[in-house]
Amino acid sequence: MIQALMKQQPVSVPAEPLLQVRDLSLLYGPEKGCQGVSFDLYPGEVLGIVGESGSGKSTLLSLLSGRLPPQAGNIGYRGKDGEWLDLYSASEAERRTLLRTEWGFVEQNPRDGLRMGVSAGANIGERLMAQGVRNYEQLRGAGIDWLGQVEIDPQRIDDLPRTFSGGMQQRLQIARNLVSSPRLVFMDEPTGGLDVSVQARLLDLLRGLVRELDLAVVIVTHDLAVARLLADRLMVMRRSRVVETGLTDQILDDPQHPYSQLLVSSVLQP
Ligand SMILES: Nc1ncnc2c1ncn2[C@@H]1O[C@H](COP(=O)(O)OP(=O)(O)OP(=O)(O)O)[C@@H](O)[C@H]1O
Ligand SMILES: [Mg+2]
Repeated sequence: MIQALMKQQPVSVPAEPLLQVRDLSLLYGPEKGCQGVSFDLYPGEVLGIVGESGSGKSTLLSLLSGRLPPQAGNIGYRGKDGEWLDLYSASEAERRTLLRTEWGFVEQNPRDGLRMGVSAGANIGERLMAQGVRNYEQLRGAGIDWLGQVEIDPQRIDDLPRTFSGGMQQRLQIARNLVSSPRLVFMDEPTGGLDVSVQARLLDLLRGLVRELDLAVVIVTHDLAVARLLADRLMVMRRSRVVETGLTDQILDDPQHPYSQLLVSSVLQP
């Protein structure tokens, strides 16, 4: 149990990044949005984006995940085939396909990420169907398997998500995203709306899955405990800019930028 709680370091550093972000900007007004953001994300790496409310975290995540076009800058993604794709030169259809296959997006509010009118099993099967799986037994099998992986009783496979608790809905949303074996998952405050005890359990589950599946993750959170538990590296945002970036432990234990120091000290903690 204690070992499971210890962060595992990647054994080797992969030579090529998965995502290359250069000078990305989208501003709604002065210092509203994000500007000049650059970084590389490597396979299996978890990047946390932290910062106060309104600092531009969600805006950045929307740009990274291809949901909003930037005003400037670009994003390169190295696909499963090893080819680089310039995200915003690609067609809308290509971006949508990525989001349904090699990428995932976990919304803060599970109601935004689930189809509430169809069963839990159908929610899980959807991405597989989008990839061409038509076999009923196979879809059902994946549904049962993934419900188990996210600790939901597989007997609930035919139930509607609205009959689930908030924590279960969030776990179902995670299953729905992970079933297609994505390589990169975006998450915006995935534990935001949940009770503290439910949060802790979800975090544990997420952490296990991320390591087990060697997922690259970009996770937005204003909760530094979440960042500490999940992220290898952090980017600290303030007023649309990244003010500091580095290894999670370094930033949380020895922040360099005055704003990071303020953020890490109890001052801004709820
Ligand atoms: N569609 C929009 N139109 C105009 N302004 C926007 C829009 N989306 C975001 N903003 C503004 O841009 C700034 C950054 O917003 P964003 O949602 O990215 O912040 P955030 O860091 O995610 O905050 P929170 O922690 O509260 O979720 C805020 O001032 C917000 O009001
Ligand atoms: Mg936000």
